[in-house]
Amino acid sequence: MSGGIEQIFKTSLKPKSEYKGGKGKKEILKKSGKKKIYKLSSNENILGSSPKAVHALITHINAVSEYPDRTDQKLRTALSKFYGGVLSPEQFVTCNSGVAMIDFISRAFLNKGNEIIISNPAFKPYQVFAQKLGATVQDVPLVGKYFNLDVEGILKKINKNTRLIYLTTPNNPTGTHIPKPQIDKLIESIPDHVIVVIDEVYFQFAQAEDYTTALPYVDHDKNVIAINSFSKAYGLAGLRIGYAYSTEKIAQYMSQLRVPFMLNTLSMEAAIAALEDKEFINITVNLINSEKRFLYRELNKIGIKYWKSEANFITIKPDMDDKLFEEKMIEQGIMVRRVASFGHLGCVRVTIGDRQANRAYVRALRSILVS
Ligand SMILES: Cc1ncc(COP(=O)(O)O)c(C=O)c1O
Repeated sequence: MSGGIEQIFKTSLKPKSEYKGGKGKKEILKKSGKKKIYKLSSNENILGSSPKAVHALITHINAVSEYPDRTDQKLRTALSKFYGGVLSPEQFVTCNSGVAMIDFISRAFLNKGNEIIISNPAFKPYQVFAQKLGATVQDVPLVGKYFNLDVEGILKKINKNTRLIYLTTPNNPTGTHIPKPQIDKLIESIPDHVIVVIDEVYFQFAQAEDYTTALPYVDHDKNVIAINSFSKAYGLAGLRIGYAYSTEKIAQYMSQLRVPFMLNTLSMEAAIAALEDKEFINITVNLINSEKRFLYRELNKIGIKYWKSEANFITIKPDMDDKLFEEKMIEQGIMVRRVASFGHLGCVRVTIGDRQANRAYVRALRSILVS
């Protein structure tokens, strides 16, 4: 057979729109030649990791010469307890991060010819992973000043090939949430062959009264999957661990994609310990709330456009080219994330830090934008 090995490659896997994730601090330190840099580009926890999780890591470090548990039963039992027993261990699926869960969900439900619905500006992997499987992406953009979900628009786009509708609340990159009545309306109206995936990796930070997670829908046996992560509030991004919950039927089906020993010993033990660390979450959320208020005041004084956020970041629209802005911020020792590739043109997402980091960020903003 002639034509080279490429002839057996899947066209949907042709190298093109890869999702790479944000840059690392070491990479930027090396490139910029700076001694200190504040990394406000990946929505990590500025306080570090849950101390209970760190203690678990130290306790279990000597166990890494042995294989981990064959199953994730221990973590699923801990998750069931964390959700007050409302969900059974069989309703959870664990995975090597939130982003890996998006890949998992895509592989579980998408074939060539299927469709997903996203609402830009949105987290890029929903789209990239669906396209790798030959599925088509329908975009029903968020609308208006507050990035509302276009429920009618989504319902109109559903056809027999639609499999997944992605909602992100709080949303990355806008920081906005989807009010419960809008989600209620959508879920009441979707046909049986469609699953609503609610990505709630920033849920701990949401304060709005009409905010909801996926829990009430899953509890009412709706075709809903929630995506969660230990990377954000728990401060365990380097361990790569996340989970989903859904109806038992959907969770058990998705679990067929698991491989034995999928979660490593350290990640699983740290995640279990983190779930118990309510104090760390409280301290983190309180810090984010008070620093958010500080930043709103400072951003108002500078007069820069920004969106109020239900997450641990605030997205701004600087009055200059976003790439140039990002470079200038690095010169000032601050890493931020441009979100044009998420469909939020000209905007930049900035993680909320502690007071020291936020003051440095505001100083940099003033020196770049205020003449
Ligand atoms: C909306 C959203 N979903 C999922 C993830 C994935 O998080 P992780 O892969 O670190 O668990 C992120 C990370 O930035 C995110 O912003």
